[in-house]
Amino acid sequence: MFIYAHRGASALAPENTLLALKTAIAQQADGIEFDVFQHQNEFILIHDRWLHRTTNGIGSIDSLLLEQIRKLDAGEGETVPTLLEALQCIGLSCQINIELKGVRDVPLLLKYVHDACDSLSIPSSNILYSSFDHHLLKTIKTIAPSARIGALTANKPIDYAGFAEVLDAEFVNADVTFVDKNFVYDAKRRGLKMGVYTVDQPEDLVRLKEWGVDAVFCNNPLNARLALADSASD
Ligand code: G3P
Ligand code: CA
Repeated sequence: MFIYAHRGASALAPENTLLALKTAIAQQADGIEFDVFQHQNEFILIHDRWLHRTTNGIGSIDSLLLEQIRKLDAGEGETVPTLLEALQCIGLSCQINIELKGVRDVPLLLKYVHDACDSLSIPSSNILYSSFDHHLLKTIKTIAPSARIGALTANKPIDYAGFAEVLDAEFVNADVTFVDKNFVYDAKRRGLKMGVYTVDQPEDLVRLKEWGVDAVFCNNPLNARLALADSASD
């Protein structure tokens, strides 16, 4: 089962910072997931539109200039990274899941990522775009049909993974609270991969692996790997 570091290795370093990405790389995570907001013509790593939870700033990201946001402390003296810095940091170390939180200009994002990956020799197959905003995912697929997408849900829809199949997604990524065997089997039946977030409890990891889940998003990737290895040796 593929292990993504969730917001970087966010149990061990401030979420969505370069330190969290580097920690995930050091832990040999299979992939790293992080959250992206658009700020004017730039893209930054942050989970919330409001600054106060993860930085020493206040107000919304749109109320500050980029230079002001970049001077904030995102924890342990870390700054709010740009998407380019994140891609430079990860490079070819592992797979990259860019979760789109607040993106207004999808063509700009796709060009930004394409140009960055080109200059860093990161294959497009290393990038997975995901979002709870399925309209954004649809736009990505319209502009770049070969782009890999993961459709997020915090629910268990009546037709399970049907919405992800309609979007031509590779992954359906669902909240661990609502994932059951039926959901996993439905995704598989539709030819989709199943991802589950956020999974840090060994019992959940083992159960999801037994059900055939393809990927999990963990705040502590190393602990997750050890828990799975432990259960395999029992
Ligand atoms: O991509 C899975 C997960 O990160 C979605 O939820 O709130 O942690 O961004 P959230
Ligand atoms: Ca996320």
